[in-house]
Amino acid sequence: MCGIVGYVGHSDGRVNAGHNALDVVLEGLRRLEYRGYDSAGIAVVADGTISSRKKSGKLNNLISELEARPLPESLTGIGHTRWATHGGPTDQNAHPHLADGGKLALIHNGIIENFAELKQELLAKGVTFQSETDTEVAAALLGDIYRNQLGGDAAKGGLTRAMQLACQRLEGAFTLLAVHADQPDVVVAARRNSPLVVGLGEGENFLGSDVSGFIDYTRRAVELGQDQIVTITADAVDITDFYGAPAQGKEYEVNWDPASAEKGGFPSFMEKEIHDQPDAVLQTLLGRSDIHGKLTLDELRIDPQLLKTVDKIIVLACGTSAYAGQVAKYAIENWCRIPTEVELSHEFRYRDPIVDENTLIVSISQSGETMDTLMAVRYAKEQGAKTVSICNTNGSTIPRESDAVLYTHAGPEIAVASTKAFLAQITAAYLLGLYLAQLRGNKFQGEIKDILADLGKIPAKIQRILDNEAQIKELGQSMADAKSVLFLGRHVGFPVAMEGALKLKELAYIHAEGFAAGELKHGPIALIEEGQPVFVVVPSPRGRDSLHAKVVSNIQEVRARGAKTIVIAEEGDEAVKAYAEHVFYIPETPTLLAPLLATVPLQIFALALASAKGYDVDQPRNLAKSVTVE
Ligand code: F6R
Repeated sequence: MCGIVGYVGHSDGRVNAGHNALDVVLEGLRRLEYRGYDSAGIAVVADGTISSRKKSGKLNNLISELEARPLPESLTGIGHTRWATHGGPTDQNAHPHLADGGKLALIHNGIIENFAELKQELLAKGVTFQSETDTEVAAALLGDIYRNQLGGDAAKGGLTRAMQLACQRLEGAFTLLAVHADQPDVVVAARRNSPLVVGLGEGENFLGSDVSGFIDYTRRAVELGQDQIVTITADAVDITDFYGAPAQGKEYEVNWDPASAEKGGFPSFMEKEIHDQPDAVLQTLLGRSDIHGKLTLDELRIDPQLLKTVDKIIVLACGTSAYAGQVAKYAIENWCRIPTEVELSHEFRYRDPIVDENTLIVSISQSGETMDTLMAVRYAKEQGAKTVSICNTNGSTIPRESDAVLYTHAGPEIAVASTKAFLAQITAAYLLGLYLAQLRGNKFQGEIKDILADLGKIPAKIQRILDNEAQIKELGQSMADAKSVLFLGRHVGFPVAMEGALKLKELAYIHAEGFAAGELKHGPIALIEEGQPVFVVVPSPRGRDSLHAKVVSNIQEVRARGAKTIVIAEEGDEAVKAYAEHVFYIPETPTLLAPLLATVPLQIFALALASAKGYDVDQPRNLAKSVTVE
């Protein structure tokens, strides 16, 4: 999703600021690359004019353009990485967009929902447009207000006032940053439903979609509230609401190290993040229980009495996070006996769901900014539900708007495809389930303590899988020509199978499907032909009922039709060997916790196969890290 950076510095030598805006902005855009994008652009104010460059494709294309046509040195600039929504990823549609005769430049993250209506209005006034974007309409509106309504008069509030008036007309989700040639030492920004953070420097100030945009310069940040406008100069940060009333942001200290966002010696962020997983799970478990094994989820601000009255849980999430939700359902229903549904956030609010004050909504989001999930949570709150957010990004919108939050501590996840956040989400969901079971008396304290002890052993077990990754990597590399791979699982193995398929689709761009193994005979088995690779997530033979035997039967069904079977099984499960071309063993663990282990070989497989095809595993095509549009 779009990345945004803004900068204003001093030129008078009183302070040690005065960086060239171009350098600061480009560096910020580099750090924000993880959000996913398909074009980039930058504008600086210098010598009484706006100069801008923009290019489709990766930042290197923009840098080549800047080498060919350099920008002047400047102390004020804005930059943007665009993830196309309105209009394709072309040079023309890239941001910044200019208005007011080229004197104003604007960048935008989000979607202006009433852009068509505003465009008609502006066309009628004789405004012309160069792109297909909603952003250019916002730029033109801002320019029109600045020039025609305020007469370009700084005494009437200048760009800040124009931004307030423009925002009063805009509908949808937007972060906007604007500069104007008349006010060379000012960047004005607005925020509704999309993220924006201010970075406080010494004699310089910054804006970013998140703190990565300025982490190299300052660790003091101000989080803006909903519907706020901020005007930054080198010395000041002024915040108002859309109507000009003074407003306040929330200042905080950024406590993560920029080095933790680097690759740590691995060829890709994704590989590093797969290897971060023992720590991601460990960090998420840390400090959540006392020595007697009693869970103490202090950040869950919901009154425990209210949690006791919950009669239904709905987990809301998208993509990989929704698969974490599917795993959570098995655990929560088993431990707490509370009916638990898992719903894709974007489907939820459009079907008139049955939600009331006894419903607990558990949203799961790595970024905390996924618009589909945010909107679903807001809807549920309006219906009176209690909302808990499981989230990896401190201070992001979804946890801020929820009644309570359980942060995962996976650290920044840079690769677009989620890996360590997934395992951390499952871990946090287990903690929530156990906490509810403790609170409601569904489990004895000793039982909870035992499960926590099993969870405590998971990081070392993940490490063992990682230590033996060569075998699965080799298989992934050898299958670079595969056209389609199927994944089967039952019970908690089913969401693991779907996650395995999603990783392969998004990284290697090949057809992959995850099925409930029992569903196969109801149709999908028709896909099986000679040589079709099929991964099967086999449950523990020590586990419940006849689950293991059933899955072994499913393996036989597909093998009989020519499938090449690749099995993920528990150490000691010798029986499956007879039915598999390849077996990858994972350490023994209770069935409900097994997804924390079984997922890992599937991630490594997808990474190895995609890398063998020469694809960029950190930034797969068409994808964005943080999906802030519906
Ligand atoms: C897949 C992936 C996505 C996200 C989904 C939700 O690898 O990363 O499917 O899981 O877009 O994102 P968050 O968790 O940020 O709400």
